Amino acid sequence: MNFTYYGHACFAVETARHTLLFDPFISGNPLAKDIDPQSLKADFILVSHGHQDHLADAVAIANRTGATIIAAYEVAAWLAKQAAIKTHPINHGTTRFDFGRLRFVNAIHSSSLPDGSYGGNPGGFVVETPDGNFYYSGDTALTKDMELIGDAVPLTFAALCIGGNYTMDAADAVVAAEYAQCDEIVGVHYDTFPPIKINHEVARRKFQDAGKNLHLLNIGESRKF
Ligand code: NI
Ligand code: MN
Repeated sequence: MNFTYYGHACFAVETARHTLLFDPFISGNPLAKDIDPQSLKADFILVSHGHQDHLADAVAIANRTGATIIAAYEVAAWLAKQAAIKTHPINHGTTRFDFGRLRFVNAIHSSSLPDGSYGGNPGGFVVETPDGNFYYSGDTALTKDMELIGDAVPLTFAALCIGGNYTMDAADAVVAAEYAQCDEIVGVHYDTFPPIKINHEVARRKFQDAGKNLHLLNIGESRKF
């Protein structure tokens, strides 16, 4: 699997057959000014919850690429009202897609749409593909529910929020990685806004001390898992 980071909590995972794009928020992110959202490829766009910093570019990219947006029922319905795009509404549970099996798992957070509409429950994604499995936490606090993920699915990597203030910080994310039984972690949801600025070296060391690797990619950088 090829992982590309687009800043904040936006990234793409390419398997041999599909490109999955997560939480597209590029045009509103000054740190991602060198990324052109209209250059991104996607077969599926997965949106973890309704907050603006997770879906700002979703409709435009879906429109151009023909990608299907996968999101909680309320978020998918709201996005579908913005333009004639393909959506697949889900809720917490398990669904099969062309790319593999998808679990929409608990996130301890909130979810309202940019106009204040109700966004249903926020979530994270556990994706099982023929090329490997991974977990994206979405925006969440640490929760024991993450143990269920590690018990059920062997993970190649996990993308975890580490910025604190709205979500887990790096110390919480180390415990999350332990619960999820995963040693290769990509940090997301940090540095974008002043309240979530972090010290990269301190964060890396916390993971190192637990025998894990924290990958903090530059925006636009790719890495194979
Ligand atoms: Ni959020
Ligand atoms: Mn967020």
